[in-house]
Amino acid sequence: MIEFKDVSKRYPTGQIALYNVNLTVQQGEMAFITGHSGAGKSTLLKLIALLERPNQGKITVDHRDLQSLKRGKIPDYRRGIGVIFQDHHLLSDRTVFDNIALPLMISGMHPADIKRRIQAALDKVNLLGREKEYPLMLSAGEKQRVGIARAVVNKPKIILADEPTGNLDPALAYDIMHTFKQFNELGSTILIASHDQMLIESMKKRIIVLQKVKPT
Ligand SMILES: Nc1ncnc2c1ncn2[C@@H]1O[C@H](COP(=O)(O)OP(=O)(O)OP(=O)(O)O)[C@@H](O)[C@H]1O
Ligand SMILES: [Mg+2]
Repeated sequence: MIEFKDVSKRYPTGQIALYNVNLTVQQGEMAFITGHSGAGKSTLLKLIALLERPNQGKITVDHRDLQSLKRGKIPDYRRGIGVIFQDHHLLSDRTVFDNIALPLMISGMHPADIKRRIQAALDKVNLLGREKEYPLMLSAGEKQRVGIARAVVNKPKIILADEPTGNLDPALAYDIMHTFKQFNELGSTILIASHDQMLIESMKKRIIVLQKVKPT
């Protein structure tokens, strides 16, 4: 479960990205976050991934208060979260296999296990047999799916995706959303930031609308 209680985030520039946000996402839920540009969608996901810290309020993830999470526990916490960005951040000089292997190598997994896990992840995103290719040889949708495979290869309990279908044509965008739905059906909690209103409405899941609220 992910819970925000009166969470506010102001960047060092003075920009208020989130103001008094209250939110509960149940374990195993799939929900969308929408709202106009600058409403704080990316910021909200970054707070959950501990890439940013709130100025006020309390964030609880699976009964852990993020504020009091010990430094030494942060890598373990992060391993439980798969993050997908719009610009997938793939390494262009590494193969599909190596790109996905990265998080597993960091965790010191045995090579045979890594191989097995990567096959399973590629299978889920329909890219089996493409492991020797380089990102340059892939279409936008395929690159996006490699990014998803990398995010889920650790079998995270929580998946966060920031505009995962931006720049993709509608059919591909739809496919990607269904890939997420399948991960959700396997038990992952999924939170997706998207401003593609038509697409997210078609998914029939909860839609959380962030509004840019100015403090009085
Ligand atoms: N690193 C940063 N430093 C300063 N201000 C930031 C930073 N990141 C975001 N902001 C500001 O915080 C507010 C929320 O930004 P955020 O990126 O979370 O919005 P968003 O809803 O994801 O927008 P978009 O739909 O354009 O991606 C904006 O006003 C933005 O300018
Ligand atoms: Mg954003």
